Amino acid sequence: MAVWYRAADFFLSRLDAETAHGVAIRALKSGLAPRDRLPDPPSLAVTVWGRTLPNPIGLAAGFDKNAEVPDAMLGMGFGLVEIGSVTPKPQEGNARPRLFRLSEDSGVINRMGFNGAGLNAALARLSARPRQGFVGVNVGANKDSTNRKADYVTCAAALAPHADYLVCNVSSPNTPGLRNLQGRLQLADLLKQVQDAIAANPVPLLVKIAPDATDHDLDDIVAVCRDLRMDGIIVGNTTLERPATLQSARRSEAGGLSGAPLMALSTEVLRKTAQRVEKRFPLIGTGGVGSGADAYAKIRAGACLVQLYSMLVYEGPPLVRRIKDELAALLARDRFTSIAEAVGADL
Ligand SMILES: Cc1cc2nc3c(=O)[nH]c(=O)nc-3n(C[C@H](O)[C@H](O)[C@H](O)COP(=O)(O)O)c2cc1C
Repeated sequence: MAVWYRAADFFLSRLDAETAHGVAIRALKSGLAPRDRLPDPPSLAVTVWGRTLPNPIGLAAGFDKNAEVPDAMLGMGFGLVEIGSVTPKPQEGNARPRLFRLSEDSGVINRMGFNGAGLNAALARLSARPRQGFVGVNVGANKDSTNRKADYVTCAAALAPHADYLVCNVSSPNTPGLRNLQGRLQLADLLKQVQDAIAANPVPLLVKIAPDATDHDLDDIVAVCRDLRMDGIIVGNTTLERPATLQSARRSEAGGLSGAPLMALSTEVLRKTAQRVEKRFPLIGTGGVGSGADAYAKIRAGACLVQLYSMLVYEGPPLVRRIKDELAALLARDRFTSIAEAVGADL
């Protein structure tokens, strides 16, 4: 795997970031996926929503927007894979270039704008695959939609029978106005409508929020989620912040920033969210994870699952195994025998 990956990495890192992503998806689809054949350390097993996953490391939304490679990514060693965001209609997204590597910072800026093949394409692929592993489905709204809440309802109702969990993504910064759905009344109305729409096929329902949420925003979001007995919150999406420490010439590109420069901010917002949630439902920590120590910090801040995307751009498939081994070593060092024991240890 190492030689294969070094050769591919040499080639991919010389391509424009979006072209490299397309090449990677095509390679994964044609069976060129490196597999993690080693069993996961038993201490990494985690039980959530009545299911036991082999490890808590997930692939975040945005890598596999059209559900083309969920099984290849599970085979790479992820304990869970989230596809999407899926919108009802196919759409082009913003003009290219719209995806930028900030190599000096191990960061990424994207302003993709929910480019994707739409609901029917995702539905066809998900319904054709055998149900295996743990695959979440993240749903969004079309840019030109006149009723965005109806877009979430349409996608959620259609995809619930094929999802191990569903996520309402109300936090993409690249669809103008979308984040307004995080407001208290809007969010309550949206989530209630989606809950009603999937009542016939109940699956865990989560909401994905922005790491830019203020304390007041978090009060509202968590109150709504507790009132509605939601199943989880993902903290979070990319940020509109630009930390002063960014070195890369691309740092002023418009869009959402992810990767290493997002780790501290997103973990702090996760911690504040966890304090408000008081373990009523699970949290997924996303943003800047590139090592076992990062994953462990998210878990200690209150996450029971962790997701990543951007650091995969820099480190490639071997990252997944490395994070799992490092995380297991950190748990052992601190005499935790399971992830569950470490969740929220820093709160
Ligand atoms: C190119 C790109 C596309 C993304 N697309 C989506 C998306 O469609 N839906 C979503 O909920 N999050 C999307 N995200 C956000 C990621 O899921 C994740 O929340 C964020 O990048 C922080 O994690 P990371 O630092 O590990 O990348 C995208 C991120 C990137 C870099």
